[in-house]
Amino acid sequence: MKIGQGAHSPAFLVMDVVTAANAMQAALPPGAPRILHMEIGQPGTGAPQGAVAAAQAALHSRLSMGYTEALGLPSLRRRIARHSLDWYGVEIDPARIAITVGASGGFPLAFLAAFDAGDRVAMATPFYPPYVNILQSLGMIPVMLPTGPDTRFQPTIAMLEALDPRPDGLIVASPCNPAGTMLSPAELHAIAAWCHENGVRLISDEIYHGLTYGQAMSTAAVSPSAIVVSSFSKYFSMTGWRIGWMVLPEDLVRPVEGLAQNLFISAPHIAQIAAEAALECSAELEANIAVYRRSRAMLLEALPSCGFANLAPAEGAFYIWADVSDRTDDSQAFCRRLLRETGIAAAPGVDFDRVDGHHHVRFSYCGPTADIEDAIKRLRRWR
Ligand SMILES: Cc1ncc(COP(=O)(O)O)c(C=O)c1O
Repeated sequence: MKIGQGAHSPAFLVMDVVTAANAMQAALPPGAPRILHMEIGQPGTGAPQGAVAAAQAALHSRLSMGYTEALGLPSLRRRIARHSLDWYGVEIDPARIAITVGASGGFPLAFLAAFDAGDRVAMATPFYPPYVNILQSLGMIPVMLPTGPDTRFQPTIAMLEALDPRPDGLIVASPCNPAGTMLSPAELHAIAAWCHENGVRLISDEIYHGLTYGQAMSTAAVSPSAIVVSSFSKYFSMTGWRIGWMVLPEDLVRPVEGLAQNLFISAPHIAQIAAEAALECSAELEANIAVYRRSRAMLLEALPSCGFANLAPAEGAFYIWADVSDRTDDSQAFCRRLLRETGIAAAPGVDFDRVDGHHHVRFSYCGPTADIEDAIKRLRRWR
């Protein structure tokens, strides 16, 4: 029996680390120190109270919870337009906003609407693995732009100019995962302008906005042709509710709507109601950020004395990208040993960069402060 090309999509290795960490936790004797999860980017805080209350009220009101329009609840789309105005001072027509099943649900819609099979889509390495895996499963060709500390692991126009042939698309993320670095507003503006002038469709993943320690700018403010992808998973702490959104250029609204009708019909109704309420919960969400800020500061101070001296500037998101080339040539084996000997789960860099990732490890610091303190103690002893 035939198996389709999509079935060959490589595993997202960090999820294998989660499985190994959970298995180890289950096998621990009672009273043994817990496994500390620094492998995934899942806020431990849960949805804000107002979002949960809105979902509960909707259930009690016995609202039908049917499909919504494929592009999402009109009230949520209007509210996100207001959010863009509040955060970035950018006016966006709500008709250009599409609600998706997480940012993850936005990627296949964006890629299918913007590209054909065989099209080449560039991105910096290290990268968020599903970009590559989704593109490949759709018959599109990822083109890697190797980056390092000299460009803060972000792409440059010179790298794009050097590509022959020119790519059909470019994915940028600022802050990015795994390196946690950002493009400055001027750099992002210049890249967006270059893409627009050269007919290269820019996809800007802004899922970590709100979790930044530098200045963030939305690509929607500067490019009429870019697709902006965002989500309620990170700043809004709602991973499992599976709601994201895209700001679409005019020419892709109808193509995305048609694709969304066929692929998903709609994002879950109740989760859209909760997401709309989450946009009113900034006090609670800002308190979460204060916890991340503290964890980030603690790790940046402690990691060098724990044998992780070479860190990317942690400008946003909740990741620290550590160069461990002085300790290993095999980040997967290193992470397995780290888990076995310290009970700390971290993500091997090879997931995000198949070449240089053997020399990197990603620590996620979105867990509770007590876990970060404990992790620092364990890493000091392990050194
Ligand atoms: C850079 C980036 N984009 C997109 C996603 C997907 O997020 P979601 O589908 O939960 O919105 C993630 C998740 O970790 C991510 O790190």
